[in-house]
Amino acid sequence: MKKTVLTFAQAKEKGEKLTMLTAYDYSTAKLIDESGIDSILVGDSLGNVMLGYEDTISVTVEDMIHHGAAVARGAKNALVIIDMPFMSYQTSVYDAVVNAGRLMKEGRANAVKLEGGREVCPQIKAIVDSGIPVCAHLGLTPQSINAFGGFKVQGKSEAAAKKLLEDALAVQEAGAFAVVLECVPEKLATLITEKLDIPTIGIGAGAGCDGQVLVYADMLGMFSDFTPKFVRKFANTGEIMKAAFAEYDKAVKEGSYPEACHTYGISDDVLEKLY
Ligand code: KIV
Repeated sequence: MKKTVLTFAQAKEKGEKLTMLTAYDYSTAKLIDESGIDSILVGDSLGNVMLGYEDTISVTVEDMIHHGAAVARGAKNALVIIDMPFMSYQTSVYDAVVNAGRLMKEGRANAVKLEGGREVCPQIKAIVDSGIPVCAHLGLTPQSINAFGGFKVQGKSEAAAKKLLEDALAVQEAGAFAVVLECVPEKLATLITEKLDIPTIGIGAGAGCDGQVLVYADMLGMFSDFTPKFVRKFANTGEIMKAAFAEYDKAVKEGSYPEACHTYGISDDVLEKLY
């Protein structure tokens, strides 16, 4: 059955954990969907994972629509959330609504995600008012990497922890149905989770959150540029893929592939006429 924002609200009420993984293409989305994961995030991490950028800054609305629509075609049950990329919502409330609308109409998102706290609450409210569910994202927000000066745990000082809690309450008040907490100390994320009525989805924020999200290529051991401390590799798919690619290379070069069973026949009569 298709998961919705109501599934998220009910899970929080019942104290049931929510699961989310990223995906950027049809086949991966289908596998994730079939495994029973509640939600698929078409993260702007596609800039790193799919496009090889060093950050998420260059990702465009067109990129998100292109990959989002592919994921949506593969996700029959999971709630599909598409990230709003850098400068698609910060510029104005109008831009935010127009671009969120494109992600829903053209990308077939069930919801959108955007980064930031109180400063983007007018955008969250306007998008929600136009009928598009919004997931907020606080803590280490990768689109602000230049302002943070690197990938760092957020909310460690009293002032920063207070700001994070206030931002979480503000995005809830603005209408967000969930909030991702990225790279936040576990005890702070647990406290925020207890104070909020909407579910928190943690990534590097400990087990006290209402759910967890990971980049699929990280948890499968496919993305080797860097591996954050919070990632558990549930499989070593990267090594399995490399071994299979090398085996294919060897088989073709030594002539053991393709075999007769991999080929198509033609009648000798037809062939003879060509000589
Ligand atoms: O872009 C992304 O994949 C994300 C997750 C890391 C939460 O925002």
